[in-house]
Amino acid sequence: MDRVVATLPGSIEELCLIRLGLIVHKLRALPFAARMGRAIGTSAAEAIASGAGLLRSEPFRVDGRHFGVLQYWASYESLERWSHRPPHSDWWREALERMRKRGDFGIYHETFLVPRSGVESIYLGCPPVGISAFGRTGESVGTMTTSRDRLGRRGERG
Ligand code: HEM
Repeated sequence: MDRVVATLPGSIEELCLIRLGLIVHKLRALPFAARMGRAIGTSAAEAIASGAGLLRSEPFRVDGRHFGVLQYWASYESLERWSHRPPHSDWWREALERMRKRGDFGIYHETFLVPRSGVESIYLGCPPVGISAFGRTGESVGTMTTSRDRLGRRGERG
């Protein structure tokens, strides 16, 4: 079994993570939510290909009514820029209008700005996923063996 560690590309001092979720309250909102899900997938592929700052986008599904995406951005500024333009600015408008009129779904965004020094990872027997899909990968040996060492916290009180 391979044991791989991944670190962020050298140019990234602060990783910007965003978790976006949609929760369907009434079944009639399912087609809207499904359309948004497809639009997110398409726009993520475009944002990665165009170098907008998106590094990786991974959909998740909690249950049939609750799904979303976890995205890794190279900076908060690139995420903010992307969010103020179409297609997102259109989704934003449409979502607020639908909520006002029908209130049949919920949406949430959680943003995390993580300093480079606060990121560590390990992948056992995995295909490229998360940071290992866009970062630098290496073997988990020496000072890369434990999460404490990878975080540079050896010798600190635990
Ligand atoms: C890839 C998926 C998405 C990303 C990365 C994303 C990102 C963002 C960001 C960064 C903001 C904050 C903008 C600011 O305050 O300057 C925002 C706001 C917002 N987004 Fe998204 N978004 C995504 C998907 C969606 C979808 C699918 C919808 C609608 C169905 C949506 C609706 C909204 C709304 C309504 C706001 C304003 C919230 C408020 O402050 O009241 N977003 N989004």
